[in-house]
Amino acid sequence: MDIEKIRQDFPMLQGKTMQGKPLIYLDNGATTFKPKPVIDEIVAYLSDYTANAHRGDYDLSYVVDTKYEQVRADVAKLINAPNPKEIVFTYGATDSLNLIAEGYAKTHLGQGDEILICVAEHAANTLPWFKVAREVGAQVNYIDLDETGRVQMEVVKRAVNDHTKIIALAHVTNVLGHVLPVKEICDYAHERGIIVVIDGAQSVPHMPVDVQDLDMDFLVFSAHKMCGPTGVGVLYGKYDLLKETTPTRLGGGSNSRYNSCGVVSLKNPPEKFEAGTPNIEGVVGLGAAVRYLMAIGMDQIAAYEEELRAYAVKRMQEVDLVEIYNADAKMGPIAFNIKNVFSQDAASLFNKYGIAVRAGQHCAKILDEYLKVSTTVRASFYFYNTKEEIDAFVEVCKKGDDFLDAFF
Ligand SMILES: Cc1ncc(COP(=O)(O)O)c(C=O)c1O
Repeated sequence: MDIEKIRQDFPMLQGKTMQGKPLIYLDNGATTFKPKPVIDEIVAYLSDYTANAHRGDYDLSYVVDTKYEQVRADVAKLINAPNPKEIVFTYGATDSLNLIAEGYAKTHLGQGDEILICVAEHAANTLPWFKVAREVGAQVNYIDLDETGRVQMEVVKRAVNDHTKIIALAHVTNVLGHVLPVKEICDYAHERGIIVVIDGAQSVPHMPVDVQDLDMDFLVFSAHKMCGPTGVGVLYGKYDLLKETTPTRLGGGSNSRYNSCGVVSLKNPPEKFEAGTPNIEGVVGLGAAVRYLMAIGMDQIAAYEEELRAYAVKRMQEVDLVEIYNADAKMGPIAFNIKNVFSQDAASLFNKYGIAVRAGQHCAKILDEYLKVSTTVRASFYFYNTKEEIDAFVEVCKKGDDFLDAFF
């Protein structure tokens, strides 16, 4: 991978500064920068081929329809979904998870049933389950993390019982970053008729994800965490499960007919979930992002990021003041603290040096029960980050005196 060449594609990597220092962006877990082909595609939709999707009988509308449906095919290719009709465009991973909870779980779960998650889940993969469980009389229970913060297969087996109906876990969590043994979990769950929902918000952007090989039932992710625009995401679901899922929004484009008595015939998936005018510029932007990532190669991206992360961990471990909570994770962010410094104060000091990191609970507000610290600093990388940026970041980690002097 030619990182210098890749960096040229990103306007946000061209001479931007923060606090008068060259910007070093290490908050890619929150959102990512967008390369020119993505920006160009969005601009092209807005300036060269604007029309609604699936509505018109004129050439321009046909262009939009063709581009829009091509994105479905491209996304299917990215995750190796057998059928593009298993790709539903949503407004993001959060929206997709809410759709599964409201549209699938609510009609398939009842009194006494169980949903299994773990304490490392993002709020998006926790709160919709709490709500549905409360409404149908089901329970949300937890798969324990091991001492390294991983979900181990043996623990999953111990947690599953006759009441378990859904297992919903992040493929890679947004704080600890360990890679979930998805295939083993799906095999075990399917032998027992349990549905597996995978939150791929932090995996799909960073590594190859093959839904057929892993055999997950539902997969969700967001475009903006993979070089695409905000406000668009994906729900992949096995087609039979999508057929059994009730849409949470109704309106134009999702029905084939209805009458004045209120009798409504819905279209088949994915159209039945995409009521109303979709985020068309978002979808075509997602398509450009998917094509951009595939042109680089998800294998190459994963290998480079793994190397970058290992380098960052090694360099950070040279600094006594740094405490890392997930040093041995292969992928994902590095969660750490500067000893005796409140995470948000540390993030403010990184900011002073032009470095963007995130501090707090990272929308995983029950993880502190496991971590035993209330908040952390999170440095998260993408394939356009460099070892030189990490060196600069580590130099700031070393400025322990600044951290301590500033606040004590
Ligand atoms: C693991 C995980 N799941 C879900 C989400 C929610 O994504 P979005 O805010 O794009 O809906 C995030 C966002 O940070 C995440 O990291």
